[in-house]
Amino acid sequence: MKTRKLGANGFNVSEVGIGCWQLGGNWGVDISKDAAFDILNEAVNNGITFFDTADVYGDGKSESLIGEFLKTCDAADIRVATKFGRAGNAYPDKYTKDVLKATVEGSLKRLGVDSLDLLQLHCIPPQYLKDGAVFDWLRDLKSEGLIKHFGASVETVEEGLVCMEHDDLLSLQVIFNIFRQKLVTELLPQAEAKGVGIIVRLPLASGLLTGKFDANTTFAEDDHRNFNRDGQAFNVGETFAGLPYNKGLEFVEDIKNNILTSNLNMVQLALRWILDHKAVSTIIPGASSTKQVVSNAAVSSLEPLSAEVHAALTELYKTKVHDAIRGGY
Ligand SMILES: NC(=O)c1ccc[n+]([C@@H]2O[C@H](COP(=O)([O-])OP(=O)(O)OC[C@H]3O[C@@H](n4cnc5c(N)ncnc54)[C@H](OP(=O)(O)O)[C@@H]3O)[C@@H](O)[C@H]2O)c1
Repeated sequence: MKTRKLGANGFNVSEVGIGCWQLGGNWGVDISKDAAFDILNEAVNNGITFFDTADVYGDGKSESLIGEFLKTCDAADIRVATKFGRAGNAYPDKYTKDVLKATVEGSLKRLGVDSLDLLQLHCIPPQYLKDGAVFDWLRDLKSEGLIKHFGASVETVEEGLVCMEHDDLLSLQVIFNIFRQKLVTELLPQAEAKGVGIIVRLPLASGLLTGKFDANTTFAEDDHRNFNRDGQAFNVGETFAGLPYNKGLEFVEDIKNNILTSNLNMVQLALRWILDHKAVSTIIPGASSTKQVVSNAAVSSLEPLSAEVHAALTELYKTKVHDAIRGGY
């Protein structure tokens, strides 16, 4: 597993990390402690040292499982990023310094650590990013030693640029994949110039880019790929990268038939495409099985994609995908 530095002033992270939203059971499947530990163990055994979670995933369950897991292994190299801002104590309009501090104390307790490696603002409404007071509260927590670094998970380029006005922002977490290429020119160069690390969520467009779904695939009632397909519950971009499901399937077929080379599968193509952008620090695919963890981690050792494949994917995005993406981006 290759590592990259997260931001100019950050720590080393495995270039393939793991997203732990799934461990909270929010995808319609209540993952047992044993199953969660198997997934995290497989991650560590395959060189993954960066875990992404949030206070709100399973109402603290994801953080608690990670905290318990860290006690069972040699955790010296593992870095855990968590988030604040989407749980009911704060979202959508109750952001105060006291709420932030109390939330961080909860995360510290669940994760079983004295100081958080990285606390990310969790897609908080843009007016709070623009107002900026929340960044001062984060600085205070850093001075107190409760957090080591802070960053922000954002939905739009504009929000990312606002956050980057703060020179001590370590990282941005963004949706970036074959279907969401706008950031290639509008955010990645700016982040690189400022030394801001880039953490990529939805690298597989919620699984669409694995090529395993078809028109008959069904998802559990409590899985956002069922209930948030058209943005009914939160930003439509967080589900299938903002594409209408059937359009997404069409684009995947297009890639399989016209772009995918015989030496790769869809997961490898999708994850490798992201890692080929040097501004990216780490990708955090979520996983529902150990098998998925193994195949995702293995992408780190693959060669970059050819210039022809990159050009074909850029063309597909510009001519077909761009106009089908919904939601602020
Ligand atoms: N606002 C935010 O800050 C925010 C929002 C969303 C996500 N996140 C973070 O980003 C992480 C990643 O995003 P995501 O999980 O939504 O999307 P994703 O990584 O694009 O998709 C994850 C899904 O893809 C499938 N998958 C993964 N690896 C696979 C493989 N090798 N082969 C076949 N299928 C595979 C699994 O689907 P099945 O379950 O069907 O097997 C898995 O649940 C989350 O876990 C979370 O930590 C943050």
